Amino acid sequence: MRLEIALLGGDGIGPEVLEQSVKCLKAVEETFNHHFIFTEAPFGAVAISNNGRPLPNETLQLCKDSDAILFGAIGALEYDNNPDATVRPEQGLLRLRKELGLFACIRPVKVFPSIIENAILSDKLIAGTDLVIYRELTGGIYFGEKKLNEDGTIASDLCQYSEVEISRIAHLAFKAAKRRKRKLTLVDKANVLETSRLWRRVVTEISESYPDVKLECMFIDNAVVQMMLKPAQFDVILTDNMFGDILSDQGSVIIGSIGLLPSASVGTGNAMFEPFHGSYPQAKGKNIANPIASILSTAMLLQHFDLKEESNAVVAAVRKSFVKKIVTPDIMGSSKYGTDYVGDFIADNIVDSDENLSINDENIGLGKSTII
Ligand code: IPM
Ligand code: MG
Repeated sequence: MRLEIALLGGDGIGPEVLEQSVKCLKAVEETFNHHFIFTEAPFGAVAISNNGRPLPNETLQLCKDSDAILFGAIGALEYDNNPDATVRPEQGLLRLRKELGLFACIRPVKVFPSIIENAILSDKLIAGTDLVIYRELTGGIYFGEKKLNEDGTIASDLCQYSEVEISRIAHLAFKAAKRRKRKLTLVDKANVLETSRLWRRVVTEISESYPDVKLECMFIDNAVVQMMLKPAQFDVILTDNMFGDILSDQGSVIIGSIGLLPSASVGTGNAMFEPFHGSYPQAKGKNIANPIASILSTAMLLQHFDLKEESNAVVAAVRKSFVKKIVTPDIMGSSKYGTDYVGDFIADNIVDSDENLSINDENIGLGKSTII
């Protein structure tokens, strides 16, 4: 297969983790005889310093013209610590999501048995967790009108949703649930918010077309507690932009590190693949960032293009790195392995399916259970 892939390294550790993903995709290209064309483009704080805008027109055009986008991370301390900044790296990401019509962000949270003992929570509590969050990505409070009064003492952010925005992601989430454990949990705040009540009505109506999927509705405050108490009770979680952002980071505590979680953003055209994590500027250039979230995002990319064997080969190589404890220090404090080394190990271990059967310690490939 021939794929044009835009590479947006972005800020902080973004470029270094993305570099490992490119190594892995090149290994897939060689092993399975594909043709991937990579083009890098500036994005985020780096782009602001060069030309004043986080998403330059050329970068946006490249993304529109590509089959897929691999993105590293965005955000920089100089903006985080400056509430008065009017141009921010994150604006570039939001605009890119909107311009590409990426209305659904798919965020799988799945425990890897071989590193379960390294998680912060007890293995009894997290064992069997295999959920996927369908986060609405181009609407809600992130995109509503923002206001600040003249003397800077009153501010507001509008949270708005339309039926269309809710139903298109709801259908994707129900279809995913149908292929998985047939349970969908809508997370909202319908006891307070009008938008949440609209979500409940639309999602409940849609559920009639999916009679084999059990719909459950849960308030966000209860959902954060349930995620900690019994994460294995969830299958597909469907939620709005803001609640999805919060819940997905909570997933990282279950898994053991935010450096392990990949995502796919899909919608009306092409798709973008990125780690859950932020730019972690403190780690930039130190060769300690975990590249797995980015590498597993490439597995989601391959799965998106129906390259199942290829996707499973990447996941199998990642599992092998866990079994052999070739991991970065966020997984195992005593580990001496750096970002580069882990990336090289995984890329070197991407082999065809005959070989990877013997190293797959958990039987279930990521692609089989979690991806669109
Ligand atoms: C994420 C991030 C972004 C978001 C930020 C960087 C704007 O936290 O992808 O979860 O809030 O969507
Ligand atoms: Mg987030």
